[in-house]
Parts: sequence; C-alpha cells; structure tokens
Amino acid sequence: GLPIVIDCDPGHDDAVALLLAVGSEAVDLKAVTTTFGNCSVEDATRNAVQILTLAGTTDVPVARGAAGSLDGLSTLGNYVHGASGLDGPPMPEPGFEVTGGDAVELLRRVIESSDEKVTIAATGPITNVAQLLLTRPAVKDGIREVIFMGGSTERGNHTPTAEFNTYADPEALDVVLGSGLPVRMVGLNLTHQALANPEVVERMAAMDHVVGRTCAAWMGFFGASYNRVWEFSAPPVHDPCTIAAIIQPDLIEWREAFVAVELDGRWTRGTTVVDLHRRYPEQEPNAQVAMTLDAERYWDLVIEAVDHVGRR
Ligand code: BDR
Ligand code: CA
Repeated sequence: GLPIVIDCDPGHDDAVALLLAVGSEAVDLKAVTTTFGNCSVEDATRNAVQILTLAGTTDVPVARGAAGSLDGLSTLGNYVHGASGLDGPPMPEPGFEVTGGDAVELLRRVIESSDEKVTIAATGPITNVAQLLLTRPAVKDGIREVIFMGGSTERGNHTPTAEFNTYADPEALDVVLGSGLPVRMVGLNLTHQALANPEVVERMAAMDHVVGRTCAAWMGFFGASYNRVWEFSAPPVHDPCTIAAIIQPDLIEWREAFVAVELDGRWTRGTTVVDLHRRYPEQEPNAQVAMTLDAERYWDLVIEAVDHVGRR
C-alpha cells in the first residue's frame, strides 16, 4: 500500500482513523506521531499506543510531538473527548513502548528512508508537520502530499468561525499552506457529512469482537459530547475522512482553491478562508478542498476496515 504517516491527537475520531489505516491494505502505516489537541500530548500518546494495542498492531512506531502550538499555547479539547482524551470504553494496557526521539525526528527518519514518497495525514493541530518543514526543509522531496483535517469552507466549531485544529495552531497551518507541497484540506463542511448515525453505530456494536464494540462505545461518548455542546443528533466522525480520501479519493468531490488561515483577526483567528470563486484572482490555488462526501461508501469502507482489524 501507499506509505503514510498519521500525525494525530487521539481523540475518538482520530482513533477510528488509526483503525481505518491499519485495517486497509491500500495504505501502509509507517509511523504515528502525536500532538496536543483533544487532550495533552502525554494523554494523546498513551491513547495512540493503546489504540494500536487494541488493534493488535504493535510494530508501528509512535513518537510524541508538540505539547503546544508554534507560539507556545495549548488549546485543549477535553470538553469533547473527556478527561483522558478518549473517554468511554475500557482500553487495554499499552502493549509497546513509545519510540525514543520526538515526532519530528521520527517523521524525518521515515520519510528519508522510504523508497516511495510518503503521504502525511494530519488529524490534530498541525504543529509537528510545520516544525518538520521549518527545521528539515529538505524532507519536502520525500513527501507526496499533506492531507489535513481542519478548517472549513463555512463556519467553525471551536469559535463561531474557526475549526478546532486550525484554531489551535494557525501559524503552523500557515507554514503548511505556504510550503508549496500538494495539500488537501478536509474541513468541517465535509466531515459534517460523516455522521455516525444510529445505524452506523449498530453495525459497529453488532460485530463479534472487542474492536467493533469499542468503536460503538467511542461513538456513544463522542455522540453525547456532540449532543451536549453543539446539539447534533449524531456525531460527525471527522478524522477518518482524511484516510478514506487517501484510500479512495473518489469518495469525495474536490475543488481546487486558494486557502489561507487568518492569523490576526480579533474574532476570527484560526479561521480558514477558502476562495471557492476566485475572488482573489491574484492568488493561485494552493490546495484541493473536500466538498461532498459519499457517506454511504465512506461508512462501508470504515466498517469493513474495523471489522477486518477485529477479526485478524
Ligand atoms: C477536530 O477536532 C477534534 O475534536 C477532532 O479530533 C477533529 O480532529 C474537529 O474539529
Ligand atoms: Ca483530531
């Protein structure tokens, strides 16, 4: 499969993204790096190891990354994901050790030692990726693309206009968007089409293994948060959309556009500005923007991967 790395802050939906990656033959997960975001980076790192342990995948290196944004702030999403960052069902004890060295070092090593260009999927604040590009610009040659969950063509969730991941480190996203690398953006406008409705949760719960039942229970906790905080009747399962987009790009309709992130706005810091109609004609498109999701095929893909992981 395509070599990929996942930079994440697990997180219930990050957890499903990890399962989708390990459960799909189309991608070859080379490393997992962690960041602050849904919880502290310490909690995110432990969660990542426990998720991979649950999946029976103990040979993918995990390295800890940024504790805060490029400018040193740590915006946390425990109000959605609970005290641990992955509250809900019990998890297995960590089955392997975190890799020595930090996230940036692991990313560099994996990219430089790969024969094929590596895809970076970022499903949390994008600090580690920015730090990689800033400190090791030569690695760009080894990166196929950066696909990130964050921002929106519409409104936000953490503030009225800003999505959580882009709010948590706008300067980092600015680095990525200006890097010249191929970038794909999977924002809330797309992920709000990826709702784990009761039928989806039932398909997970009905699986005859702990991986499926754990997913169903994650959706229960995550869904209750989404209901309490945003009055959603089913939770949008954002992060696996990035992995699905790598496995099956035609699950999503894309639009090429200029994307920027607001760094200065008094009320709008961290908001993505997506020029879908070329209102800034002097700005060349710098990203492919996810617009429409085939939700039925998305859930088939996710469910199949989760079931595959649970049965092996
Ligand atoms: C993003 O923030 C987190 O809550 C999720 O894991 C996702 O990456 C959605 O705004
Ligand atoms: Ca996330």
